[in-house]
Amino acid sequence: MRSLLSFFIFLTTITTIAQNTTISKDSTVKYTEIDFLNMKEQLGITLPNRPGPSGNPSDPNAANSDETKVVPYTLPNPLVSINGTKILTEEAWWNLRRPEIVEQFETEMYGRKPQNIPDVTWTVVSEKDTLAGPYPVTERLLMGKVDNADYPQIDVTIELLIGLPKDLKQATPLVTRFGFIDWPFGPPPAEPNSYFMSSYEPLWKQQLISQNWGYAILVTSSVQADNGAGLTSGIIGLVNKGKHRSTEDWGALRAWAWGAEKVMDYFETDALIDANRIGIEGTSRYGKAALVTMAFDTRYALGFIGSSGAGGASLLRRNFGEMIENLASSSEYHWFSGNFIKYASTLKIDDLPVDAHELIALCAPRPVFISVGSPLIEGNWVDGKGMFLAGVEASPVYELLGKNGLPNTTYPTMGSALTDGEIAFRQHAGGHSTGPNWSTFISWSHTYWND
Ligand code: GCU
Repeated sequence: MRSLLSFFIFLTTITTIAQNTTISKDSTVKYTEIDFLNMKEQLGITLPNRPGPSGNPSDPNAANSDETKVVPYTLPNPLVSINGTKILTEEAWWNLRRPEIVEQFETEMYGRKPQNIPDVTWTVVSEKDTLAGPYPVTERLLMGKVDNADYPQIDVTIELLIGLPKDLKQATPLVTRFGFIDWPFGPPPAEPNSYFMSSYEPLWKQQLISQNWGYAILVTSSVQADNGAGLTSGIIGLVNKGKHRSTEDWGALRAWAWGAEKVMDYFETDALIDANRIGIEGTSRYGKAALVTMAFDTRYALGFIGSSGAGGASLLRRNFGEMIENLASSSEYHWFSGNFIKYASTLKIDDLPVDAHELIALCAPRPVFISVGSPLIEGNWVDGKGMFLAGVEASPVYELLGKNGLPNTTYPTMGSALTDGEIAFRQHAGGHSTGPNWSTFISWSHTYWND
């Protein structure tokens, strides 16, 4: 089973690299190493990083997947400020504690979004009518050109696909996915539309359109490449004029989330889209990006966070599945600020001032749905229980803001949906995808998005 996940991860990684860069894989690895070492030099770290565990359960150094081997840990309290003040009012959360947590995430983990990011100009380059299952849809392809007058050597054009029910008369809610668009922009793959063809849940687009809602896909790699070699290009490289990042600069997750902010700017100008009812969705590294988007852009109304694991919704202090040493290695450090590397070398995880529950807490009071697949199919690299517990630990913040978090601390059995509150959780019976949770997500969204 585990090898299925490894194969999927291998495939996504290779696809991502192939889509992100025109240079060869060898050069990508080489330039990544150069950038990684440059960052370590800036941090004054001369020793190699501590190695992370292996994702292959048969390796001698396999990641822990045994609950009895989880070592007790202490989490930072989202409702106690740095100077020890207890946060007892909504006002203290918004004015004191939330800004502190934002600052800690920006400095130590995801990096700081620069002040001087150039403007984006959106153009609709193509429009066509199509079908999502049986439902007529109008799809538009947009390009968001980033002004590069200050550094023409780097060109960044954000790719965005928007699909809305055909002949829509009034503004509709929509869910944006971090993902890929099939090229060339032509008819989408046929979706099952009959009782006989459909042996599984209809695909996500069809499910959204069936509610008279829309969908969008933001092509992450058009904003920022998914490797360290790309950090001197993309939006990060454009703002830095082709130079390496400094230690607090944003990483790819924050850059992708910035792309989603620009997409939201566009939605706000479109009369057919209800910008107050926009969701953000992603799986795996894109699930991490979706959570970062929700945390930092309060205009996003709902989050659907799929199998985001370490660096996303799962508690980093819990030794289960992927660990901080994996995230801060040369294959994943580019998702984060340079400073994050310290926690896999000179510092330890307990030195990190934040953990995943506080990222979820930054979304409060807005609803987030945390999704994971079955460990039998998806494996244990994504720590479903660690994500559930992060939701539990974020709940007091939701409660302070008059909302409901997760109802209890018992990990639910597979398939049971905890959807009574603003933090929802469901472990579906499938693999590394939000797919089998879409219908549950949509029915929960209706609590917030009924006309
Ligand atoms: C790797 C990585 C994960 C990530 C996943 C993916 O497995 O370790 O953190 O979520 O790739 O994005 O597919």
